[in-house]
Amino acid sequence: APQINLPELALVALVGASSAGKSTFAAQHFLPSEVLSSDFFRALVSDDENSLEATQDAFDSLFFVAGKRLERGKLTVIDATSVKPDARRRIVDLARAHDVLPVAIVLDLPRSVLEARHAERLDRPFSAAVIGKQMAELRRTLRGLQKEGFRQVWVLRTPEEVQDVQIRRVP
Ligand code: CTP
Ligand code: MG
Repeated sequence: APQINLPELALVALVGASSAGKSTFAAQHFLPSEVLSSDFFRALVSDDENSLEATQDAFDSLFFVAGKRLERGKLTVIDATSVKPDARRRIVDLARAHDVLPVAIVLDLPRSVLEARHAERLDRPFSAAVIGKQMAELRRTLRGLQKEGFRQVWVLRTPEEVQDVQIRRVP
């Protein structure tokens, strides 16, 4: 099984389109308090976890908390799609500002898997076309992640890989 050796002090970006399984993965491998999700912060500032209008305030709040955690030496996971270079740049910049390692864990599963999951969800009232756009954006830019500044880039491409991966924290 693939093993991710994660530095104890890292800023981890989970990267993937909606329904790629980021929040599920986060819950399996990290403490709830280690995971800062954009939906949660959207809800915190607007009472609606799908509110696009709240995006700016949600991310400002998320990054504020992430910065406080990193100042305290706490590993932090950002659970947002992060399929666009601009979104990832902010993560890399924050990690650098706090002298911690930016790590990307990319969930790049087949579109059919994501669409099937999306179809079952009641909490994502947008069309599957959104997922297609996000996947295209990710695949267009995926090769550049190392160059963007991520010190480790892990790409998981099948549900089996995601299921089997082990995360070990190394000092
Ligand atoms: N799911 C699944 N099997 C997995 C992972 C996820 O069946 N191995 C299901 C979840 O139960 C959920 C859906 O797929 O209903 C999406 O998973 P989620 O972790 O919520 O995906 P995210 O990437 O977090 O999606 P979003 O960006 O919309 O929050
Ligand atoms: Mg999620």
